[in-house]
Order: sequence, then C-alpha cells, then structure tokens
Amino acid sequence: MPVNSNKSKKTTEVKKSLLEVVKPVKTKPYNDIDLNNWKLYENIKTGTWWEFSSRDNTKGHSYDYHGNYIPQIATQLFTRYTKKDDIVLDLFFGSGTSGIEARNMERRCIGVELKQEMVDYVSSKFTPKELVVDVNIIQGDSASPETKEKVKSRLEIMGKKQAQFLVLHPPYDDIIKFSDKKEDLSNCATTEEFYELFKKVALNGYDLLEQNRFAALIIGDKYANSRYISLGFECQKRMEEVGFVTKAVIVKNITGNEKAKGKTANLWRYRALNGGFNIFEHEYIMIFQKTKLKSIKEKH
Ligand SMILES: C[S@@+](CC[C@H](N)C(=O)[O-])C[C@H]1O[C@@H](n2cnc3c(N)ncnc32)[C@H](O)[C@@H]1O
Repeated sequence: MPVNSNKSKKTTEVKKSLLEVVKPVKTKPYNDIDLNNWKLYENIKTGTWWEFSSRDNTKGHSYDYHGNYIPQIATQLFTRYTKKDDIVLDLFFGSGTSGIEARNMERRCIGVELKQEMVDYVSSKFTPKELVVDVNIIQGDSASPETKEKVKSRLEIMGKKQAQFLVLHPPYDDIIKFSDKKEDLSNCATTEEFYELFKKVALNGYDLLEQNRFAALIIGDKYANSRYISLGFECQKRMEEVGFVTKAVIVKNITGNEKAKGKTANLWRYRALNGGFNIFEHEYIMIFQKTKLKSIKEKH
C-alpha cells in the first residue's frame, strides 16, 4: 500500500471522529439519552416484556426487605424518564431502593414511608450530607393532605416546586401485611378500600409531579377466595381517573426474583393443579404521563 494512502485514511478517521465530537446532543426534556447516538443505548429496555436473571445486589442494594423491588427496574426507569439532578418522588419508600439508585445515578429523591422503623433503618443507608442535600425521607401516610404539604416543603428546600418522576410501588393489597396501622394499604378491610386509598395516593402523586413528566406503578395481581383479582388493571384505572395517561404496560417476569416461592414451588404446583389456577410468574410495571392528551372520545 502506498504511504500516502495510509496518511489519507488517518486524516479521514480524524475528520470522522471530530465530526462525532461536534455532533449536537439531542435529548428529550425528561431524560439525558442522546437520540443522535441512540444505537449506543443497547441496555435500555423498550419492549413490554422484562426479564432479569437475578437481583442486583451491588452498589448499596440488598434483599433486606420482603417486598422490595429489584434495583434494575429503577435503573431502567430513571434512565428513560429522568435527567441528572432530577427529583424522584417515591410514595411507598420501603427499604429505599429508589433512593439508593437515585444516588447511584446522580439523581435526588424524596421518599415517603408509613413505618417509622423503616424510615430509621433506611436513613442509615445514606450519609448525613446525602440526607440533607440529596435524599429526603418523610414518615407519613402518602394518602393524606398533611404528607402532601410535607413533600411540597421538602421540594422547596431542594429548589423545586414539583418532582420530575413518580414511583408508586404499593402493597399488593394484603399479600404482604406491612403493619397494623389503619392507614397502611396492606391492612385494608376490603379490596375496595385498598383501591380508595390507592387513588388518594395517586392523586397526591399527580399534584406533586411536574407537567409532562412520567410516573411508574409497580404492582402484581392476586388470588383470593378462589378467584383472580386484577389489582394491576384496577389501579391503572385509578391512575387514569386522577388524570394520568397510560403510556405502557410492561409485564415483568418475577421468577428467580422472589426467594420464598422458590422453596415451596412444588407445593404451589400441587395447589395450582388441584385448584384450577395458574402460579403467578409476572407483575406489572405501568408507565404513565401527566400530560394533556385528547381523550379517546374526542378522537372519534
Ligand atoms: C411494596 S413495599 C415498597 C417497597 C419499596 N419499593 C422497596 O424497594 O423497598 C410498600 C411499602 O408501602 C408502605 N405503606 C403502606 N401504606 C402506606 C401509606 N399509606 N403511606 C406510605 N407508605 C405506606 C409499607 O409500609 C411498605 O413499606
């Protein structure tokens, strides 16, 4: 090969890389994904079927609370729907998965949790500085107007009027009972009451979220009294009733993410064969937006 040809090849490569450097970054107002380089984001899930082979137990995460969600859900959601420094509001904070992942990804977080002992425990996962600047944890009932006012004050301290992303991971009715408190969504006398309380939380979340921003509802269904109860779709209905627009319903494989069922798999199989039902292997991650869209009726 002539020497000059090598030189011109190098010059072309330099020109190409310079072009790549100056190519403008194209992002949406609600995330930092550079759409001009969209092919680089291979790890972002854009389908409606999510499967993770195991729970991520690194970077501060652990399976230390029965009912906490796997951190990969937060990683996916925060990448898609938040920008650096945005505030994630989680109204069922539990063991603080959203807060830990928010910090890992340089986002901020406000978490509300009913149980004081969980608030005390989760606080120990963050440094004193983080607890002032980046992660605000509130003990309270997320359905109440008082808690809404408290969240507003924390937002103000953090320099914002509203949050930029909302996470709702409520109890799946009474499947796991978290406390005996009357405000606890896992302690309702009936499933109707659970929906009523959920709707109040959803409305608070709607009011506390910035216009055009997104919310995620993580929820599973249940069986009771020999019948299937669609908690997920009923809660989706309540989200729509308070004003949210549904953007996606994702089905997530939960097998391998739950410890307890693995041990009793054979027992569940027998019960399923005996009772005519199927064993849950999925839950939902539903995505909503606070946006003004034409209603379905207006379209026709
Ligand atoms: C499914 S867990 C959330 C787990 C959390 N996403 C995590 O990763 O650790 C539901 C949480 O909601 C809390 N909770 C129930 N009712 C509540 C209410 N009215 N207000 C605030 N938190 C509530 C429960 O104590 C429980 O910790």
